Amino acid sequence: MDRIIIRGGNPLRGEVTVSGAKNAALPLLTATLLASGQHSIAGVPKLRDITTMRALLEHLGCETTFTDDFCINTKNIQSNEAPYHMVKTMRASFLVLGPLLARFHRARVSLPGGCAIGVRPVDIHLKALETMGVSIAIDMGYVNASCKKLKGARLSFDIPTVGGTENVMMAASLADGVTTIVNAAREPEIVELAQALKKMGARISGEGSDTITIEGVKELNPLVHTLMPDRIEAGTFMVAAGITGGDITIKNCPLPYMESVVEKLREAGLSIEECGDTARVRRNDSLIPVEVKTLPYPGFPTDMQAQIMALATRAPGSSVIRETIFENRFTHVAELERMGADIRVEQDSAIVTGVDRLRGAPVMATDLRASASLVLAGLAAEGTTTVSRVYHLDRGYENLENKLKSMGADIYREKE
Ligand code: UD1
Repeated sequence: MDRIIIRGGNPLRGEVTVSGAKNAALPLLTATLLASGQHSIAGVPKLRDITTMRALLEHLGCETTFTDDFCINTKNIQSNEAPYHMVKTMRASFLVLGPLLARFHRARVSLPGGCAIGVRPVDIHLKALETMGVSIAIDMGYVNASCKKLKGARLSFDIPTVGGTENVMMAASLADGVTTIVNAAREPEIVELAQALKKMGARISGEGSDTITIEGVKELNPLVHTLMPDRIEAGTFMVAAGITGGDITIKNCPLPYMESVVEKLREAGLSIEECGDTARVRRNDSLIPVEVKTLPYPGFPTDMQAQIMALATRAPGSSVIRETIFENRFTHVAELERMGADIRVEQDSAIVTGVDRLRGAPVMATDLRASASLVLAGLAAEGTTTVSRVYHLDRGYENLENKLKSMGADIYREKE
């Protein structure tokens, strides 16, 4: 297993380019199951989650190649089962359910179970599909789903679930009749999926709003697409500039999708200049404490909560960070405290009192964004920080240590 060693204290300077969005790539890859033929997606990041999805698609019978573009041939699908060991490692594997049902009318997909950041049920996905005419039986941890033909329906989600909206949008694209999702998730990755499905021939409107309408069509065509950039990776680099007192230029930065993050980071004392798809991010003065509440898009993303908490540890005064999406997403708190941070957790809020300095320490985290927050803290800490369990970072950040190193960070990876 690898670990990352950081000797903190270098202000980051220079340029960095954001990779393709992991959370847009994963649903797009499952969407290729909807149409028989050769698909091609450009800009897919080389990440562990993508490798997991590739293995799942190959398990189903797809042929794939992944050099520059990710190419998938979905002609000879032989299986409709997503096994436990694959869904357990990556919850987004559950997104094969909608496409498999739409194309083959039958699927057996393992329930994802719990994960490091909370219970994360899939009840809304299942209820929606049942309303669309799917029979669902849970058997030994698997969802056995089948239908004669998917039927369009009016669905009202209790919570605007991202994965649920994606699963239903894909299923509804090949259903009989019209599906309306009320209280749909509005995340940019949903808009990206809708645009890709439309390129394949789907009829979708309202994506990006809380009501999405999908008129089913008989057949879809293979997809050729270039992926949007990753807004969470871009936000992580912004925090890296802020926490080290640096001055960096972020290219391929999806600024239109980052309003809540940019606004909060400006409140925290960062200067962010926007020019097309480039952002110059600097900090000259002291950091300022912030109040943050995670919300569904367009609110502040839960996937940036751990990173902004790392920043808040250095802001003189009290910051309050409230997590409303996942119930157990503060696993980074205890590790940040080991580096000298002063954080008190009260129910769903973390009260962070800024400290003069963080000190390097051996740390580890149990999920992706928590691991990123420890790297950020390490960049600003005095002395050496060792981040173990780097495979979490490799799930969602392409080449993170080399990108940071190119901006002057003293960081490297070694075998544990
Ligand atoms: C996606 C993102 C993840 C991000 C999250 C919230 C991907 C691959 N992952 O995850 O990075 O942190 O959105 O922005 O895109 N819920 C239910 N029942 C359901 C489904 C969800 O109660 O059937 C709850 C969840 O437990 C959670 C909330 O709804 O509290 C939001 O979850 P959801 O939007 O579904 O997250 P994911 O799609 O799993």
